[in-house]
Amino acid sequence: MPKRYYITTPIYYVNSVPHIGTALTTVASDMTARYQRMRGQDVYFVTGTDENAIKVAEAAQAAGKETQQFVDEVSAEFRRIWGGLNVQFDDFIRTTEERHVRTVQEVFSRLKDAGHIYLDKYEGWYDVSAETFLKESDLIDGKSPEGNEVRWVQEENYFFRLSAFQDRLIQHIEANLEFILPETRRNEVLSFIRQGLRDSAITRTNAGWGVQVPGDEGHVIYVWFDALINYIAAIGWPDGDWQNYWPADVEWMGKDILVRFHATLWPAMLMGLGLDLPKTLVGHGWVLMGDEKISKSKGNVVAPLELADDLAARVGCSRELAVDAVRYYMARTMPFENDYRFTYEDFDLKYNTDLVNDLSNGIHRVISMTHNFCGGKVPPGEISKSAHEEVAAALRSYESAMVKFRIDEAAGAASSVVKSLNMFIDTRKPWDLNRRGATEELGGVMRTLLWMVRVCEGVMRPITPTLSDKIASLLQLSPADRWDELLGDAVIAPGHELAAQDPIYQRLDKKKMQEETKTEAPSVDEITIEDFMKVKLRVARVLDAEPVQDSDKLLRLQLIVGDERRQVLAGIAQQYTPDAIIGRQVIVVTNLKPRKMRGFESQGMILAADGLDGEAILLLPDKDAPDGTPVH
Ligand code: MSP
Repeated sequence: MPKRYYITTPIYYVNSVPHIGTALTTVASDMTARYQRMRGQDVYFVTGTDENAIKVAEAAQAAGKETQQFVDEVSAEFRRIWGGLNVQFDDFIRTTEERHVRTVQEVFSRLKDAGHIYLDKYEGWYDVSAETFLKESDLIDGKSPEGNEVRWVQEENYFFRLSAFQDRLIQHIEANLEFILPETRRNEVLSFIRQGLRDSAITRTNAGWGVQVPGDEGHVIYVWFDALINYIAAIGWPDGDWQNYWPADVEWMGKDILVRFHATLWPAMLMGLGLDLPKTLVGHGWVLMGDEKISKSKGNVVAPLELADDLAARVGCSRELAVDAVRYYMARTMPFENDYRFTYEDFDLKYNTDLVNDLSNGIHRVISMTHNFCGGKVPPGEISKSAHEEVAAALRSYESAMVKFRIDEAAGAASSVVKSLNMFIDTRKPWDLNRRGATEELGGVMRTLLWMVRVCEGVMRPITPTLSDKIASLLQLSPADRWDELLGDAVIAPGHELAAQDPIYQRLDKKKMQEETKTEAPSVDEITIEDFMKVKLRVARVLDAEPVQDSDKLLRLQLIVGDERRQVLAGIAQQYTPDAIIGRQVIVVTNLKPRKMRGFESQGMILAADGLDGEAILLLPDKDAPDGTPVH
């Protein structure tokens, strides 16, 4: 049996639900999987959730839920959102599942029996947010290099002899240039390893959550050691037919979890077990909001399905087609080496230019002209040689981009096919040929165009599967799902009849483009007391304030409202410096629908009077009241 093409995503922490940053890794993996399926590979694509982390247990506590119930709910939410994004995984592994726990314990026992694990004392720092052990020298101003809070830990732990694998790791990385991509990250990994690897603590004191060390109730396995094992647990190692899957062909991830974990600890664990290493580890860049990585703790989350639903509402298309617009955007802007800054305007712009103007309108023009000039049927005619060469070249660039896992370049190659199609319309002017009665030439041009529409359907398919199905239905053909057959023209058979339909995507007009500034309040003469009571007002204390980049009006405030924390953007920067407001109490509307401003979510509004010159005059309580006190 030929080996299956095994693709993995990282397994996601279930302390919060996916955003477009986490979705990026999964969507990129899905595009790889769909492309490889089209290439005839027997793909096995696995994703899942990482549930044994301390921060997960703490998130459950903060939500006031049983940890198991909490992880069940959040994990289900991941599945739902991946389903909504049309991610076609073959298996979904959870680290609280018995099959995973059993495998982790087996790995631990085998490595221990082989002398790779020993018991010692750990004394050092621990970053709960990144679930990472840190040395004193790693800290910057008392925080982790990423700026996370750290805790001092002193405990008896089991250690993995990572140091013993240093030379073998370097050798493997240097001898296998495709092992770590992109190249810049490979260099980072090499310099990290060359600095000298310390043995790694792989257990924590048992605090009631996590995989127990076999035969030692006092310890649970460190979440990273545990999580990495999912990649072999999902394929049934050490029993069954795991050899049909292993080694993984590609393990996708973001750059933050490549160096220490996937490119160092994980391969060393595999070497200790005598297993082959994954063929390729890809560590893509981040999606940024402003200058910051998108993350829940920063309050700048963009939820992928909300982005799709919002577009669907503005342009009146189905959620599935709007999801494809999100997928396309992710692919086209996929940060590989460098990070990418997300903005709502950029999303709208790419939708309008690439999907509406070029793709949807281009295809619509071809289908309408077929109806107008050729009776709605494929006319007889030869496919243009020059168009064929151009499209074949674009497919070759797509293929070589995919070999390097450059989804952004592959999406670029797909849009170049769309561009060629539009160019062919503009230069060959079928309407002129029709007017002149040049039937034979018109036939060749129209059949070439229809063939190009078909190729567009195929090259877009790994990125935008619903959109491709829609194009196939316009052409009245079954899906173009075999890569090797994409350039063939037999299905664009003369006489074949097409469907008549409206354009796939509607343009966003200026009014409907996402704007990130103030919306005017509707004017109402009178309201009832019940209306007023709907507005929930509270006393809040300003914990922190900072200016918002590229805005001279906005301050980003962190507020304490009772036992809750909220981020609010307020247009008061011209009257109040951060120092003048930090520590003071303000009045906040707490039940206002959150909205995005300059890339940040504003979870409320603070009250201010409009001064004579339009300046903001903050309304402050006459004397200190407990934070969170209701206001009427
Ligand atoms: N649980 C670990 C992974 C264990 S794998 C054995 C973890 N989980 S995570 O939920 O924090 O992150 C999962 C993935 O999402 C990582 O690849 C990470 O790089 C990616 N991203 C999270 N935020 C991101 C952005 N803002 N931009 C791009 N990718 C980001 O780490």
